[in-house]
Amino acid sequence: MCGIIAYAGHQPATPIVLQGLRRLEYRGYDSAGLAFIQQGIIHSIKASGKLDALVDKTSVSSNPLLATCGMGHTRWATHGVPNEINAHPHLSNDGAFALVHNGIIENYRELKDELIAKGYVFYSETDTEVLINLIAECRKSTPDNLRAFQAAVKRAQGAFALVLLCRDEPETIYATRKSAPLLAGIGAGENFVASDVTAFLASTRRVIFLDEGDIIRITPNSYQVLSLEDLRPLEKKIHQIEWDIQSAQKGGFKHFMLKEICEQPQVLRSALAGRVDLEAGRVRLPELEGLARPSRLRIVACGTSYNAGLWASSLLEEWGRIPCVVEIASEFRYRKPILGRDELVILISQSGETADTLAAMQVARECGCATLGLCNVIGSSLAREVDRVIYTQAGPEISVASTKALCSQMALLTLLALYWGQEAGALEGDRLKKLLADFSAVADTLEKHLPKLRVDVELFSLRVAAARNVFFLGRGRNYALALEGALKLKELSYIHAEAYAAGEMKHGPIALIDPEFLTIAIAPHDELFPKTFSNIEEIAARSGPILAITENGGDKHLRGEIKWDIPPLADPFTSFAILPMLQLLSYEAASYLGKDVDQPRNLAKSVTVE
Ligand code: F6R
Repeated sequence: MCGIIAYAGHQPATPIVLQGLRRLEYRGYDSAGLAFIQQGIIHSIKASGKLDALVDKTSVSSNPLLATCGMGHTRWATHGVPNEINAHPHLSNDGAFALVHNGIIENYRELKDELIAKGYVFYSETDTEVLINLIAECRKSTPDNLRAFQAAVKRAQGAFALVLLCRDEPETIYATRKSAPLLAGIGAGENFVASDVTAFLASTRRVIFLDEGDIIRITPNSYQVLSLEDLRPLEKKIHQIEWDIQSAQKGGFKHFMLKEICEQPQVLRSALAGRVDLEAGRVRLPELEGLARPSRLRIVACGTSYNAGLWASSLLEEWGRIPCVVEIASEFRYRKPILGRDELVILISQSGETADTLAAMQVARECGCATLGLCNVIGSSLAREVDRVIYTQAGPEISVASTKALCSQMALLTLLALYWGQEAGALEGDRLKKLLADFSAVADTLEKHLPKLRVDVELFSLRVAAARNVFFLGRGRNYALALEGALKLKELSYIHAEAYAAGEMKHGPIALIDPEFLTIAIAPHDELFPKTFSNIEEIAARSGPILAITENGGDKHLRGEIKWDIPPLADPFTSFAILPMLQLLSYEAASYLGKDVDQPRNLAKSVTVE
């Protein structure tokens, strides 16, 4: 939700800020803006709509290239409609300060009333404009800008990442965070503050992860981290980021989403690397060393990450022999759950910044449970706050719709199920060895078949693009995939899609079936196939068109339906092929309909608000 980048260096700031915003655009893209100081004045340029509008506006504006210090923001609206006035940066009434902000100031109304009484005027509907004027007000009674920033931030309630530019300190940037991501990039003669490393990865891979309540001050040649509480200097470790800038670029693909779908074989290899010993037939997860076997598992996550948990729950029970419940984080956090102290709460999050998932972690903590995070973004809030973290190592996921991250989460959860089964001696004889061999073969099979899937999908996706309503059906693990298929289709193509456990259709939803209502049935030829097949027959009997994602074995049973063959994999690893089929289906349908595949409307990648 909102992307922030700030630069203090010796190069022209605006091209660097715009380039950073381009990489952060996935975080919000309804409007954008930047600010820089020139000839003693803070200038700001803002535009509603996608970043291109800001780029165009910047190129015609009065020579912003001279400034070597600046900041930018790409917005996902919380307070006020997405227009130019509400876009960030916001300036204080006296023009002395500018602020960009990701998050929500919960007590902005009372602060605003207080400032209005003192004569301040507000032009936007945002909470950010309140805070920047509060900083200006605090400056009247504090000896310097840093203390004014500290005093104002201390009064703000809510979640926020903030970057401040001060007219009388043209080479300095101040920033702070509370429950919203912000980190610093340390370069040579230039320093950065941003929501995400990808914003400055082209310039430096040296990163400081800011903690809650840190304030950082950067200039071209220095940085200093202080405690918000008492401005005490803090020692911070500089981390070296392994991702390179190529992994955050499209690499010849038309969209990030397509690139990320096609990266899944590599994602699987990376998830298994060093964790599977084929010769010994063992899973190694050093991250779990010393952790007692949990009596129960509680998986908590949102959206696609929730679907990963649901997909894996049966494997964790069947192979790992541990009872497992999966919950939506936004529900879990408020329903006062009863958790046993020997229960392990697994929090799954690609970004590691999802507000509901972080709150769920807090609930688990308060109940005295151990927490395990499955997280992609290194150094994210979740990764730093859980008791133990397993990184899913999927590399940067830029497309707003999650694809390869889910593949990596499913892979890690599979390894967890095998690990706990191995530790309990529940996978007898050569069973574990065979499962590990089958699992390790998935990446190669998928890689071999992906080009054909990409060709096949063009035909099927036209059928989907023509639909107004789509059901996705599946049983068992395929129900979780059906949820994911429906989620992807909705968010990318804006076609109405719902997922049902196939057996539930007869309990009501089948009433909707008519010759126009498309059903996508996930029906691999597994032990549940005869049951799913009956449900498909029931839909066909009511003239409902069906696209069956199935295997050769299923073909002879399915008569009039359109069939799409799943690449040959052993159950349950078929899921790792069905997943990209569903992703490609939505991707192609949305592309055909001319939708913005990487940046669907109304969405943002990292959901840092409730
Ligand atoms: C869907 C999607 C979202 C995220 C959800 C959780 O394509 O991307 O549903 O899965 O917002 O995000 P993380 O995994 O970052 O916690």
